[in-house]
Amino acid sequence: MVVSDSRAVVWHDLECGSYSADLPLWRELASAASNAASTVLDVGAGTGRVALDLAGAGHEVTALDLDAELLAALRERAVGMRVETVCADARTFALGRSDFALCIAPMQTVQLLGGSAQRVEFLRRAHAHLRPGGVLACAIVTEIEAFDCDAGDLGPSPEIVRIEGVSYISRATRVQVGRRAVRIERERAVLAGEEQAARGQPTWVRDVVELDQVSVSRLQQEGREAGLVADGTRVIPATEEHTASVAVMFGA
Ligand SMILES: C[S@@+](CC[C@H](N)C(=O)[O-])C[C@H]1O[C@@H](n2cnc3c(N)ncnc32)[C@H](O)[C@@H]1O
Repeated sequence: MVVSDSRAVVWHDLECGSYSADLPLWRELASAASNAASTVLDVGAGTGRVALDLAGAGHEVTALDLDAELLAALRERAVGMRVETVCADARTFALGRSDFALCIAPMQTVQLLGGSAQRVEFLRRAHAHLRPGGVLACAIVTEIEAFDCDAGDLGPSPEIVRIEGVSYISRATRVQVGRRAVRIERERAVLAGEEQAARGQPTWVRDVVELDQVSVSRLQQEGREAGLVADGTRVIPATEEHTASVAVMFGA
């Protein structure tokens, strides 16, 4: 496998890449949707954790993301697979087609769009790209536990990867749950070799992500505003490191 040296790719892989609790659901939905003419649209595809899994199972996948660097890594990894990448914004994309059987937005991507009006824009775009009878599934977290390592909470174990002699460490240090958003703080460090590691404490750099708060019923209402039909939910189970999430399902 080609290993990209982009730091953005390394952090993305480290912090998202090992999550697999949702894969059975995406596989099931893709298989149910798939026929000779159908394809999957993966919105917020990142480096391809889900897109590559589905393409490996024989599905044709269009992977859309705002981040060109992440998509470049995805393309390197998708050689020989039926994967197309599109660098575009989930709230405004227009691919000139409306034949997708399945559109998925895994791992809380719809909570990164900047609030209700922006989510409705995404839902309209997704709807416009689905064929009649097509399915949209958006994974959201609705219950997330607050913690603060500075206040003595333990927090999850750090995630570590070593690439060509360099160690990359990421650890979640604080989750603050607000009415409008959940703020997730991580600290990241890069250790360039044994020597640097031996010299003492690494320099930690803070990374902050804010997830918009959205309930299942709110997202369903937004989907209806976008012309979609709400079609229940599926639970994605919790793991030791990740909270449970809910896939909110819509029909076109
Ligand atoms: C939590 S990651 C999920 C990555 C991947 N789907 C996975 O499950 O491993 C969210 C992804 O959404 C992308 N993203 C955030 N805002 C976006 C937007 N407005 N349009 C398209 N992609 C966006 C980010 O670049 C990132 O790759």
